[in-house]
Amino acid sequence: MRLDDRFDELIDTLTGFQRTWLVYLGVELGLFARLRQAGRDGLSAADLASVSGCAPGPIEAWVSAADAHELADLRDSRLVLDDDTAIILLDEARPEFLGGQFVHSVIASLDWSAMLEFFRTGEPVRQRPDRYRQSIERLTVQDVAVFFQEALAALPQLVGDLGAGGRVVDIHCGGGRWLIAMARRFPSLELVGIEFEDDSVNRARASVAAASLADRIAIRHGDVSALEMTADFDLAYFQYALHQLPDPVVALRSAWAALRARGRLLVLDWALPSSLDEFRTRQGELIAGVQLDELYQGTALATRERVQSWFGEAGLPQAVTIELPSGASLFVAERA
Ligand SMILES: C[S@@+](CC[C@H](N)C(=O)[O-])C[C@H]1O[C@@H](n2cnc3c(N)ncnc32)[C@H](O)[C@@H]1O
Repeated sequence: MRLDDRFDELIDTLTGFQRTWLVYLGVELGLFARLRQAGRDGLSAADLASVSGCAPGPIEAWVSAADAHELADLRDSRLVLDDDTAIILLDEARPEFLGGQFVHSVIASLDWSAMLEFFRTGEPVRQRPDRYRQSIERLTVQDVAVFFQEALAALPQLVGDLGAGGRVVDIHCGGGRWLIAMARRFPSLELVGIEFEDDSVNRARASVAAASLADRIAIRHGDVSALEMTADFDLAYFQYALHQLPDPVVALRSAWAALRARGRLLVLDWALPSSLDEFRTRQGELIAGVQLDELYQGTALATRERVQSWFGEAGLPQAVTIELPSGASLFVAERA
């Protein structure tokens, strides 16, 4: 490769960092949402500032940058958002939704002030601020969409069973968004969320109350590995959580103990690539970056083989691994 080409590629990386911030601002300030509402006519910078309640100067700069970075198109001084960009950045119910990933990437990186120190000492930071966990909730909105669009499509029998009712537990449920989505989709279910972090428990309870679902969703404060679980659930679910727990084997054992006969254990996660070729894909690149953030806080994404080995070590049956179209992995085990 010529030096000039390599130079341009690395410049792309720098502009990519800036573009991530531009997207973050556009999502958080509601700029993309306003542009979408405006449709084909778009908005001038002054209109966008006015409808979003932002200062005209910065918005003028954002509009120019959004056009330069091809996030939206400036035509006759009006910025227009195309349909595909709007879907990817704004449509939370679709597996393609990336708006939350942009928010999470920016918020996570605000905590990286000790990253150099971590590389020198290998000592993780362990504690993240509340804003980080709030951004996790935004990130895993995509996982909820993947569950509903892809995991349920792969498990038609489960859909039938959930429709008939039953009891479901979301283990380490974060802000409770999956529970709320499940309660709405399957009106006969009773649901329990277990969550370890104080602020996430509070957010989950507040969201459940705001959705008027407190009569069907209970949020328990605790760590699944330390709780005595009794066999009264038909489905136990881990979403982007198992790999972060201090002892995934004990957590799996505890989840298994919570299941009734013919109950199902589901783990939805984003696996660390198992080969160099898999790392060299777009998803591999993204996951490699996410892994840095995980290691920084003392957790780690796991390969599919590693997750499978946790099932074995916990004395559970071998889980069936389903590779979902989005690239997420689903591990399924059923009690006899
Ligand atoms: C990435 S969050 C995912 C939350 C939720 N399932 C979701 O999809 O939004 C991971 C969860 O793992 C749990 N967790 C992380 N570190 C933990 C620790 N050291 N001890 C116990 N639980 C922990 C927390 O409960 C946290 O909510």
